[in-house]
Amino acid sequence: PALPDLSGKTILITAGPTQEALDPVRYLSNHSSGKMGYALAQVAAQANAKVILVSGPTNLGVAPGITKIPVTSAAQMLSEVMQQVQQCDIFIATAAVADYRPATVADNKIKKKDDELTLTFVKNPDILKQVANLPTPPFTVGFAAESQNVEHYARSKLNLKKLDMIAANNIATAGLGFNSDHNALHVIWRDGEHHLPPQPKVQLAAELLSLVATQFNKKTSN
Ligand code: C5P
Repeated sequence: PALPDLSGKTILITAGPTQEALDPVRYLSNHSSGKMGYALAQVAAQANAKVILVSGPTNLGVAPGITKIPVTSAAQMLSEVMQQVQQCDIFIATAAVADYRPATVADNKIKKKDDELTLTFVKNPDILKQVANLPTPPFTVGFAAESQNVEHYARSKLNLKKLDMIAANNIATAGLGFNSDHNALHVIWRDGEHHLPPQPKVQLAAELLSLVATQFNKKTSN
């Protein structure tokens, strides 16, 4: 697809998983590959935007010209995003942020002892929600990976988090989504929606970026 022209615009993207430390040698994380976020960063750079990618640990590299800020935990991701977001026009949250982190990080390696181990977790900050609820937020786009009632959950997330747009995908569809090179998205905004069919993530990212650019231009020209 033809890419929009985003010269002069700055796009901030979160990508990848977060790792939440338990002790000096262990962490909790998830299987996010970061592919969707990196694909978006690539096409946004091709569309002449200034791109800042705040990324959890992945095996992926970025093209020259993209500013990558590596982070480990959700708390670090939030702090880096908040330092960058004021100068950004568009924020796209693709990261699979861990919903919870261990309540305490042990100073030393936790030794094995009993047959059972119970851990206590506390909720992580919702980075996307915090950005969307800033006094002067950028155009804010979230992702919703769901295995059932995809559209219903996506629409309620759009409203509850006060997003400009949400890209929903059904993770129950074989071969699509997490860790796959392909995905399909149901993109929803306040007064419209669009279905992007299954395709390679870079192609999909270009189509999503076109929808983002169109709605961003509409919002900012009002
Ligand atoms: O509420 P849920 O986790 O399903 O929302 C997913 C969206 O919110 C994604 O865009 C994800 O990047 C973002 N998110 C976030 N910080 C969190 C949890 C989710 O930015 N702590």
